[in-house]
Amino acid sequence: MTDDELRDICNYLIVVAREAGDVVRHAQPTSLTTTSKKNTADIVTQTDQAVEILIRSRLTERYPAFDFVGEESYKVGLEITDQPTFIVDPIDGTSNFVHGFPAVCVSIGLVIGKQPTVGVVYNPFREELWSAVGGQGAFVQQFDGGIQRLPLVVAPSEGLKSACIGVEWGSDRKGPNFDLNLKVFTMLARTTATGGAFVNSLRCTGSAAIAICRVASGQQDAFWECGCWAWDVAAAWCILSEAGGIVVDGHAGNWNPPIDNRRYLAVRPATEGQKEFVEEFWAVIGDARSTYGPAP
Ligand code: IPD
Ligand code: CA
Repeated sequence: MTDDELRDICNYLIVVAREAGDVVRHAQPTSLTTTSKKNTADIVTQTDQAVEILIRSRLTERYPAFDFVGEESYKVGLEITDQPTFIVDPIDGTSNFVHGFPAVCVSIGLVIGKQPTVGVVYNPFREELWSAVGGQGAFVQQFDGGIQRLPLVVAPSEGLKSACIGVEWGSDRKGPNFDLNLKVFTMLARTTATGGAFVNSLRCTGSAAIAICRVASGQQDAFWECGCWAWDVAAAWCILSEAGGIVVDGHAGNWNPPIDNRRYLAVRPATEGQKEFVEEFWAVIGDARSTYGPAP
């Protein structure tokens, strides 16, 4: 696809994300329109489902040959192929959405050959719109203001000690996945005198997509989560890469994880020290492992 064609797709995704975002902003979720999926920490609302149907219809009408993967219509076993594929989370941050906590977004990514190629993330409650096209840079528009190129801040990485790191509890609150979170959170937070990395701060803000966009902006140093899905990261991954950041495996070792890896460490753009940051983070994880992984 040419640069102009990709740019046109991005412009259309922005229109669709804004339309979907209007629906999200005007919705009033209640306990009657909210149901549990796996457990009470993993929820879905009627708005999530309605917005996915809206986005899907807009995208398939305009790009009928492209595949579509959405959180609410996903079926176990569905694989992302090399075809151009829209990967969509109609609402990332559903728990925030039902609580009225304004870190909620519509996330629309296009992957081609499984590579994040176009990304649009829109938070309708804060009027923040992040977007990127492969090879054309990443941008943010905030509060209807001007468009700024990402990163907003760029500096050398100073390692874990001064880092502000996004993490998430996820919805698995027992077993090896919970144990891994407890270990990593504890080791990141603890003082160096007690064997930890003593990071500046940990942030748990309830939307992987927005957190990765903050990393792309340089507003957070990193984001780490094991257990989230391709639709949580596809769009923001493109935005982060275009800003100069990287996504590596959330377990130690793999510098080039696939889009459906389910374990991600996103690291901000930096003039130096990015690789060393990853290695320092991976050393905290050590040999510990979650059960999450890409589709076999
Ligand atoms: C969730 C959010 C959350 C992350 C979960 C995701 P949802 O997506 O991104 O931050 O911790 O892993 O599933 O359910 O709000 O779309
Ligand atoms: Ca979602």
